[in-house]
Amino acid sequence: MQPNRTMSIAIVSGKGGVGKTNIALNTALALGSLGHRVLLLDADLGLANVDVLLGIAPEHTIHDLTRGVPAEEVLVSLDDQVDLLPSASGVADLDDMDEDAQTALMGRLHELFAGYDFLLLDLGAGISPTVINLAAMPQERAVVITPEPTSLTDGYALIKVLLTQRGIKNFHVIVNMAENPQEGQAAFERLQLACRRFLDLGIRLMGIIPRDPKIADAVREQTPFLRLAPDCPAARATRAMAEDLSHRRERLQELIARSPILKPFPSQP
Ligand SMILES: Nc1ncnc2c1ncn2[C@@H]1O[C@H](COP(=O)(O)OP(=O)(O)OP(=O)(O)O)[C@@H](O)[C@H]1O
Ligand SMILES: [Mg+2]
Repeated sequence: MQPNRTMSIAIVSGKGGVGKTNIALNTALALGSLGHRVLLLDADLGLANVDVLLGIAPEHTIHDLTRGVPAEEVLVSLDDQVDLLPSASGVADLDDMDEDAQTALMGRLHELFAGYDFLLLDLGAGISPTVINLAAMPQERAVVITPEPTSLTDGYALIKVLLTQRGIKNFHVIVNMAENPQEGQAAFERLQLACRRFLDLGIRLMGIIPRDPKIADAVREQTPFLRLAPDCPAARATRAMAEDLSHRRERLQELIARSPILKPFPSQP
């Protein structure tokens, strides 16, 4: 088997509406600007969020891959470096597929994913079995929280379920909508303290993204904020996070080489 070079990261959250889709899309674009090949997988089985943020209506979804539609027709190119694999509602149907069909689809996906440096999965919020299954598949998880207490407790609940039901121990945290860096840092530290005290688990801060009115503008304009306002504070923070990710991929090269891009679905503890 070829050593793997694709780093896979799920963007997850306990509470909805905390900014996962905006972060996944713009981080993908920022990684692309650094010269990486990136695949953004819309794995939110509820609403096709990424489509909405881009104002596009893709013709095919991941499911069409099993029906013989070539990958080039299913993928939507966002720029030279970044592709989108649209609305993965087919992934939920994996449960209903027989084992041969599952294996065939996973094989097809692995082949496709292997052509990229990064695979980012934009997931739905919460702790439903489908979300937990999907969140357990990639190598890494970025839990998005905001400084709001409800978002912190829901983020903690998600981490606890993934740890206790799936044995997952490597969590990264993105604090979004921080009024200032201090507020963002304090929110992370509250979650860090709870995880250490009650779960005996260390978590890592991946980035703090400020509350930024340009994001609402970008959502309205159906244009990624990185393109609409490349110098706004949220765009700068997102680029910094992408640079860190790029460096971490380099550092973890050997570990990534030994890790599958996605663990089998549904992934067992
Ligand atoms: N840093 C920010 N500053 C200001 N507003 C933000 C910021 N991040 C996100 N938002 C706002 O929050 C809304 C929700 O963002 P987004 O759709 O990315 O969240 P989500 O976590 O993907 O939601 P869902 O759980 O429904 O998938 C956006 O419409 C945007 O206006
Ligand atoms: Mg979303």
